[in-house]
Formats: sequence, structure tokens, C-alpha cells
Amino acid sequence: MNMRVLCFRSLVFIQLLLLVFSQDNPPGFISIDCGIPSNSTNVDEDTKLTYVSDDQFIDTGVNYKIAPDYVTDGLSTKYLTVRSFPNGTRNCYALTSLSAGSKYLVRAAFMYGNYDNKNNPPNFDIHLGVNYWGTVDIPGPDGAYFSEIIATTTSDYLQVCLVKKDRGTPFISALELRPLLTTLYKDDANAAQSLVCSYRGNTGASSQLRYPDDPYDRIWMDYTLNTWTDISTTSTFDPDTDFGIPSIVMQTAAATLSVQQSLELSWPPANNNKSTVFLVILHIGEVQDISSDDLRQFDIFWNGIAYASYTSVVPYKLYPGWFSYRSTDHDEHNVSLRATSNSTLPPLLNAFELYVITPTTGIPTYSGDVAAMNKIKTNYQVNKGWSGDPCVPTELSWSGVTCTFDSSNIPRITSLNLSSCGLTGAIVSSFGNLSTLDSLDLSYNDLSGKLPTFLDQLSALTYLDITGNSNISTTLPPGLQQRKQDGNLMYRFGGASRYSRPSNNKTKILIAVIIPVVCVGVLLLLACLIKSSGFRRLANGEEIRNKNSADLEDSNGNIVQIDSQHFTYKDLQKITNNFEKSIGKGGFGTVYHGQLYSGTQVAVKLLDNSSRQGTREFLAEVRHLSRIHHRNLVPLIGYCKDGLGCMALVYEYMSGGSLRTYLTDKDRNARVLSWEERLRILLDAAQGLLYLHRECDPPIIHRDVKTENILLNHMLEAKIADFGLSKAFRDNCTHMSTTVAGTPGYLDPEYNSSSQLTEKSDVYSFGVVLLEVVTAKPPIIDGRNKIRLTRWVHQQLTKGSMDDVVDMRILGRYDINSAWKVVQLAMSCCSETSAQRPVMSHLVSELKDCLELVHGTSSVMDSVRSSSSRRIALEVAKNGESLLPDGPSVR
Ligand SMILES: *[C@@H]1O[C@H](CO)[C@@H](O)[C@H](O)[C@H]1NC(C)=O
Ligand SMILES: *[C@@H]1O[C@H](CO)[C@@H](O)[C@H](O)[C@H]1NC(C)=O
Ligand SMILES: *[C@@H]1O[C@H](CO)[C@@H](O)[C@H](O)[C@H]1NC(C)=O
Ligand SMILES: *[C@@H]1O[C@H](CO)[C@@H](O)[C@H](O)[C@H]1NC(C)=O
Ligand SMILES: *[C@@H]1O[C@H](CO)[C@@H](O)[C@H](O)[C@H]1NC(C)=O
Ligand SMILES: *[C@@H]1O[C@H](CO)[C@@H](O)[C@H](O)[C@H]1NC(C)=O
Ligand SMILES: *[C@@H]1O[C@H](CO)[C@@H](O)[C@H](O)[C@H]1NC(C)=O
Ligand SMILES: *[C@@H]1O[C@H](CO)[C@@H](O)[C@H](O)[C@H]1NC(C)=O
Repeated sequence: MNMRVLCFRSLVFIQLLLLVFSQDNPPGFISIDCGIPSNSTNVDEDTKLTYVSDDQFIDTGVNYKIAPDYVTDGLSTKYLTVRSFPNGTRNCYALTSLSAGSKYLVRAAFMYGNYDNKNNPPNFDIHLGVNYWGTVDIPGPDGAYFSEIIATTTSDYLQVCLVKKDRGTPFISALELRPLLTTLYKDDANAAQSLVCSYRGNTGASSQLRYPDDPYDRIWMDYTLNTWTDISTTSTFDPDTDFGIPSIVMQTAAATLSVQQSLELSWPPANNNKSTVFLVILHIGEVQDISSDDLRQFDIFWNGIAYASYTSVVPYKLYPGWFSYRSTDHDEHNVSLRATSNSTLPPLLNAFELYVITPTTGIPTYSGDVAAMNKIKTNYQVNKGWSGDPCVPTELSWSGVTCTFDSSNIPRITSLNLSSCGLTGAIVSSFGNLSTLDSLDLSYNDLSGKLPTFLDQLSALTYLDITGNSNISTTLPPGLQQRKQDGNLMYRFGGASRYSRPSNNKTKILIAVIIPVVCVGVLLLLACLIKSSGFRRLANGEEIRNKNSADLEDSNGNIVQIDSQHFTYKDLQKITNNFEKSIGKGGFGTVYHGQLYSGTQVAVKLLDNSSRQGTREFLAEVRHLSRIHHRNLVPLIGYCKDGLGCMALVYEYMSGGSLRTYLTDKDRNARVLSWEERLRILLDAAQGLLYLHRECDPPIIHRDVKTENILLNHMLEAKIADFGLSKAFRDNCTHMSTTVAGTPGYLDPEYNSSSQLTEKSDVYSFGVVLLEVVTAKPPIIDGRNKIRLTRWVHQQLTKGSMDDVVDMRILGRYDINSAWKVVQLAMSCCSETSAQRPVMSHLVSELKDCLELVHGTSSVMDSVRSSSSRRIALEVAKNGESLLPDGPSVR
């Protein structure tokens, strides 16, 4: 199966339309027929879904009809019109009223049909929000093409953008959005990555299927080869909770003609790029009655390697089993199903899905800035081709807008140039919302009225230009006036107006096309023409630190230069809304959630009286800590030290919470971390500790390494919290035994004898963390009698297997080799004597190896990871036991 051949071979015969019934679209479906008149609708002949005009989703572009030569009877109405985008590099549709964190299937469809009479089929990119989705390369005027993506939203809207490339004008025929349950494709489609469909094949079927046969309106292409035979059943399959695969898709299957013949699928790397990562999902379930003398048993080979040699697949009757596999770095990818020597029946395949895994690395601009910019855009009808995200990707950022990244790497707008843009009327309040604005140029417009006081909110403004607005009052509001007096603001005003009102005679493009109606069936070519994947990095990933240095006097009158922000108690009250939301209680005090004026979320740690110390020591420590920067350490943003006795530290807020919450049963809402995610988190944490031990001068021993002190951000990147505190706040602390010298269960046993904590004490504690992450058990297990986790793991392993140790929730979904490695590492970290424990650099390199085991070269392990539980289900089923899908563990 060569993908290219396959895509273009799939000719689909569309039935003549007989009668079109309209019906209510299912909830959440958005179906858009691009290019039809404003407010009009169409009913799709196939699905009976109602398609609406795209007018309410986009405000740029021109409507066209495809050339009459390409209008063939039976061609779906949604392909008859297009919206085309001659202006602007990027033009975006906004799909709103979605729910953040939900999963959607989005499909964009294209038929060129020489609508512009230029015979120039274009190529262009499509983006989903700020992330690359794919490249559309239209080969010719006839044929309708689509691309599908399964993605998770981070906000309540999604933008689908068309981005100009080197040839022709971007256009679109239809856009569809279908909600998916978040539990579907859950291992592979998430906030960090999307799935772009390369092919979805329904083997043994005779025609294409979609809604209403598939409630999620996925398009299943009928796929068969002449070396295969079609088999099917009229009985219904059990429901499938992992992919929601419809029974009707499972009911048809293909088998090879003889037992000896293997069933093969192969495809080339996407876009000739061997780095593309494919996800292949095979759906397998028995459709025939198998007599007791017969056996259908086969092995699955991935690129020539047996997926596992110790068990073979025996499909279970009417039960949807699946196998998934990730593949990269091959000249050609192939999957081969081969009967075992005992099998009397050939291998079978009911359906398969092939996706390109596409990372979603772009972070959109701060939502407050986006809202303000959109208000400004619509209020003044700014005609600068602004569409999509103002800052991201960098090469497509809005003209006149400059951005930087805040301390959590979120893009913020720092300068806005609207010089000579024809702005009229008053200055709208949205300008006051661009709180990180450093430069604002409004020169040569026709703005009138006063400079409003909300401009005082622009506390970082250093440049304001209102020259050439003849009817504007030039008096600055008090705050800006003060900034000007202090020499912090450069203010330009006066000057003659260069502004002239733009003429308002828009060229109207009218196209009248007479469509001849020819009553014959039509062959419609449907193909996935996406060239994948190649993603763009948002930025160079560097953290831009808050440059708000403060010169302070310490108690001895010495000037202390501190490279972080200084807050007063009043500031903290405001930031935390009067200490409203406590998000944790640590060794040194209570932590509150807060939000800086810039919108940055912070965690404010208010120190207990008992942890307090002299001003001088405090400032010295803050100075020290504010200079420590590493990707895997929670950054210190600022501190509070004022005459009123406030002592607090302000950290970046980590929205993902602590690692501990993901490992306890208590928090049932917490998502289950996959094995790979766990390894990544451990590696992150190890790198943070390594930095403290090796790069800091003097080296920092954390002294309280535990899962509560490993925090995650929204991308599940781990950062170490609370470092450096134990040393700083040791002296006056009354709870020394629990808070300073570590937490029970994590504490280095050698400390008891030597009373000396070394970096190897951190290694010991980290060993306990490793075990916690593998087992999801606390460091001290409360049973009939308390037992240390290290001991428990040891006991389990001597009498059982790895499966008895690993977190129940990932049984069957972890890679045993790397799990062994992690447990062995943990055991060496927890050696009684520190000399036997490894150093952090060793742990970092070993954890890197583990990650490689999981996803790098040995992609075979990956498949085991995600499918071994189902494979076991298939086996047990063969032995005649009844088994519910997703029932109790079968082991
Ligand atoms: C479409 O509907 C909206 C709201 O109902 C209305 O304001 C607008 O004028 C309509 N447009 C056309 C072209 O009928
Ligand atoms: C595209 O830009 C041209 C020139 O700026 C303008 O005349 C035309 O109206 C624009 N078309 C659209 C669809 O915005
Ligand atoms: C399948 O792929 C493997 C590895 O890329 C290759 O060695 C083998 O020849 C391929 N088999 C077929 C039938 O294409
Ligand atoms: C084939 O069947 C025999 C007898 O039941 C068994 O011993 C052998 O392991 C089977 N071979 C395979 C490959 O399953
Ligand atoms: C501007 O900020 C105010 C509150 O500070 C908020 O109510 C308003 O919705 C914001 N406006 C925009 C356009 O974001
Ligand atoms: C704004 O843009 C105009 C012309 O595009 C330019 O002359 C001016 O210098 C810019 N203003 C700033 C502050 O860069
Ligand atoms: C100047 O602005 C005021 C309102 O602020 C308006 O009444 C007046 O007509 C404007 N004058 C000119 C010449 O535009
Ligand atoms: C190939 O794909 C990888 C991963 O998707 C990407 O990083 C790389 O830039 C691509 N290379 C080319 C030449 O497109």
C-alpha cells in the first residue's frame, strides 16, 4: 500500500441525490460551507447535516463559485463555492463557543475547480491556532481534497488559518468541527500533540462511511486489495471505548487468500521526511464463526520486527481489539500480519488508522492582549491584514505589533504602531488593557477627545506618540504625566495632520455563473493531501527574566542589588486578593495563589514567624536565589520585605500542581501520567537537582526532595521548588526535624548517625521519588504496620513481578525494560551508605537512556506499551472466559 497511490486510487462513487432531508445537527457539530451567501444554509446530501455560511466565522476573503466545467452532478454542494484570500499572508476562521480542554476533530475541505479562472492550483499551509497543521498542495482543478486533525483545545475557541506559500491564492471549500470524547485517542491526542490523519481505511467495506454511521463523522475509506478477500458479519460488535470505532466498521474485514500469505500494509515517510512520526492503529476482531478444529492466530511484524514473540494474536469474536504502534526513521514503513504455524485460517484486519503525530509547541499570546487587540481592530476597522494570533508564529505576527515573552514564556505585546492607520474617534479603553506596552505610536490619525486616564494603566510605557491628530487634547493623564516628569516617558504630540479620510468606494466583485445541470453520476476523488509534519518552534525557548532590578538598602545601610522584583505587603494583598486562595502549606509557610498586574500567575510564599530571620540574611538569600535560573527550577520572580514585618517570596505559578497529586488515589480528577510522561518528569527533576549540586556556587543541597516539591507546569514540565530555603531559614526554625532536615520517608538514614546532610542525601530522597513515581505509593505505606516504600518494593519483587510493583493505572501500558532500570536506579539511590549511591549526573544520563528505550530506537516497545493489555484480553478471550471491554484487570 503505497500511500500516494492509495490516496488517489480511492475513487468514491457518489449516489445520485434523491431527496434531501434536513435534520437537526448533533450538538457541538459545526459545519461550514465556505463561500455561500451570508446567512444562507445548505443541507449535505450524504450526511443530511446542515451547513451554514462562513460569514459569521471570518471577516476577510472573497466568495467565488467554481468554474462550470468542474460542476458535475452529484458533486456535493459544499464544493460548489469557495472563499479565497488574495490579501494578507494569514487568514483565519474562528470557531467559538467550544470548551477548553476538549477534544475535537477538525476537517478542512478544498476543491479548486478553477474558480479564479487562472488555472493555477495553489499550495498553502494550514495552521490550527498557532500550530502548524499541514501543507495543502492542490494538484489540479478537479477533485475534492480534505485534511483532518484531532486536537485538544486550550481555550474556548479554535482558529483555522490559511497561510500563503509560494504558489497561487489560498482558498477553502468547507470546514467541519466535530466534538470527540476526551477519552478517545487518549494516549496520543492531548495538549502536547495532535494527530493529523494520513489515512483511515475500512477494510472489506464496499463504500466510504461517515456520519451518521460514525457518530463522530470520521471518514472511513473503503480499502481493499485483490490479494485480499472480504469477510463480514451482520452481528454487532461490542462498543469500543478507546477509539469509539463504530460496529459497522468492525463488521467488515479483510483476510488474505491463504494461510501462508501475510497481510501487508506499507507507506513511505510523509513529505519524504524520515523524521515524521506515524501512529498506526490496527483494529482487529473476529467476524466469523470459528469451528473448534480451526484456529486464527497470527503475529504482527513492524518494519520487519516481531511485535512480541511470546504470544500471538487470536482475535476475539465481535470484540474490538486494537494494536497501536509509533514509527519513525524508516525509508518505508510496513506492517505485516503473518499466521503462526498452528493457525488454520489467514490473518485478518477490520480497519486501520494512520496518523502523523504533530507536536503542538506554540503558545498563544496572553488572552488579555488578544482580546484588547481584537477590540482595537474592530473598533477602528484597522485594515492591516491582522488575523490569527498577534504574536505567534513570529514570522506571521501582526504588522505594527512587537512582542516579547514573559517569565512563563507567554507572548506579550510590548509595542504597537498604528501610525497613519486612519483611526477616528476617541481612544478606546482596550489600549489600557495592553498592560505590558512599552511603546504606543498613534501618530497621524484623526483621533479626538482627551487622553483618558486608563492610559495610566500602561505602567511600562516609555514612548507615546500622538503627533498629527489635530483634534485631540494633548494633556497627559496624571500617571503618565508623572512618568514623563520622572524621565521615564518620551511623549510626542502636536504637528499637523497628515491624515486624509480613506475613500469608501469599495470594489464589489460580482460573479454570475450559470451552472449547467447534467444528470449523471460523478466520480469524486477524495484524498488526503496533507504533507506533514515539520513544526515550528515558538521561540528559542529562552526564558526572559524580569529585568525589574531593585536597589535596596539592607539593615546596615549597604546597597543590595537584587535582580528580582520587590513587592510590599500591600502589593501582595492585591496580587493574592487578600490572601484568598491558599494553594499549599510548605515547610516555611503558607503558599497563596496570585496574579500580577501583567496577568502572570504567581505563587506567593508567606513565611511563618518561625522561619523568619534577620533582614540581612533574608536579602542575602533572595539575592542568591534570584540569580539561579534553570529550566527545571521554579523561578523566583520577586520578594517582599518591608518595615511591616512582611517576609515573602513570589514564585512563578505552576498550574500543573505537584507531582504528588498525580500519584495519590485521593485526587480522582488528576489525569493518569503515562509511563513516558513519568520518565520525562523524573528526568526534568534530576536535571534540576544536578544544576543545584553542580552549577550553583556554592552548591545547593536541597534537603527536602520529595514529590510535593516537584511542580509541573501546564506542559507537564517539572521544576523543583523550595530549593535553597532550608539553608537560609534553618537557624530560627523551630520545626527543624521535619521541615529542614527532610520529610519522613525521604530522609537519608546516614543523617541519623552523622547529622550531616550532603548531596547524597538528596540522591537518597530522589530514589524514593523514583519509586513513588513507578508505584504511585507513598514513601511510607500505612498498612497493618508501617513499611518503607523501598522495603515494600523489594518484598514485592522477590515474590512477584514488575506488574506487582507498577502503578495499577498504567499496567499493560508501560515499558518493562525502562521500568526495571528505574527501580534498580532507585534501589542504588537508597543504599544505606552514601558512598554506594550514584551522583545526579549518573541519574540524568540513565533516565535519558530510559526515555530512549521507550520511544527512540526501540519502537517495538512502544507498541507493547500501549497495547499489551488489549492483547492479553484477546488471549484470555480465546480461552473462553467472558470479558467485558475495559473490565477488571485480566491478570
Ligand atoms: C445576516 O444575519 C444577521 C443577523 O441576523 C443580520 O444582521 C445581517 O444583516 C444578515 N445579513 C444578510 C446579508 O442578510
Ligand atoms: C485586497 O486589497 C486590495 C488593495 O489593498 C483592496 O482593493 C481589496 O479590496 C482587498 N480585498 C479584500 C477582499 O479585502
Ligand atoms: C519492511 O520494513 C523493513 C524495515 O524497514 C524492511 O527490512 C522490509 O524489507 C520491509 N518489508 C517489506 C515487505 O516491505
Ligand atoms: C502449536 O501448538 C502446539 C500444541 O498445542 C504448541 O505446543 C505450540 O506451542 C504451538 N505453537 C505456536 C507457535 O503457538
Ligand atoms: C480590559 O480590562 C477590564 C478590566 O481590567 C476588563 O473588564 C475588560 O473586559 C478588558 N477589555 C478587553 C477588551 O480585554
Ligand atoms: C511607526 O511606523 C511608521 C511608519 O510605518 C514609522 O515612521 C514610525 O517610526 C513607527 N514608529 C515607531 C515608534 O517605531
Ligand atoms: C473635535 O472633536 C470634538 C469632540 O471631541 C467634536 O465635537 C468636533 O467636531 C471635532 N472637530 C473637528 C474639526 O473634527
Ligand atoms: C522533518 O520532520 C521533523 C519532525 O517532524 C522536523 O523537525 C524537520 O524539520 C523536518 N525536516 C524537513 C526537511 O522538513
